Amino acid sequence: MRVLGISGSLRRDSFNRRLLRTAAGMLPSGVELVSFEGLKAIPAFDEDDESAPALAVASWRQAIAGADALLFATPEYNSSIPGQLKNAIDWASRPVATAALRNKPSAVIGASTGMFGAVWAQAELRRTLAAAGARVIDSELPVATADEAFNADGTLVEHDQVLELDGILLELLEEAARSAGPDGVHAQRQHHGPELQGASTYDVHAV
Ligand code: FNR
Repeated sequence: MRVLGISGSLRRDSFNRRLLRTAAGMLPSGVELVSFEGLKAIPAFDEDDESAPALAVASWRQAIAGADALLFATPEYNSSIPGQLKNAIDWASRPVATAALRNKPSAVIGASTGMFGAVWAQAELRRTLAAAGARVIDSELPVATADEAFNADGTLVEHDQVLELDGILLELLEEAARSAGPDGVHAQRQHHGPELQGASTYDVHAV
């Protein structure tokens, strides 16, 4: 099973990227997290370009199509989601009948250096994804004061957050298994739990 990780932050040392790496280390065996690294290259959405979108848009749509589930980690920019992330979602929401996001199992987590852990951004991102037809799970993970939230090895300091993230990942994998149906992929039932956090390395592939 493949989970596509999308960081709403383009920043190299982003806490949201770190959160995705943390999540990758918690996934059960047989599930890989692949990081989407093409967000910055996606041009501004223009309906006039819909019939012949740029290669970066095609790659984005293919990456979504090739994943069983999506895991977004978003920062909050001015109480909302980063513009580049919203723009990418707009591209993946069209054309409506064949939109890459349609029925795609998705989860949203987020980190910010503020006191509220990007809660508004997460709520907005869930709403936007749902509007685009994705199957978005309700749970969220607000990681506040992100500059103090991670241990040196990349694991989360707060045990409650480890448990919440573990629950979100399991929910996402179960939704992916449900979406795939009886003949499709299945979430691994032998979920290893949060004690394996950081045990595996983060698979970074260009997609
Ligand atoms: C921010 N930041 C921020 N934080 C927050 O909690 N609420 C907010 O509304 C905003 N607004 C905002 C706007 C802009 C343009 C920037 C650049 C930053 C701070 C933000 O949480 C912090 O920079 C995080 O570290 C961003 O996430 P990454 O890049 O570390 O993943």
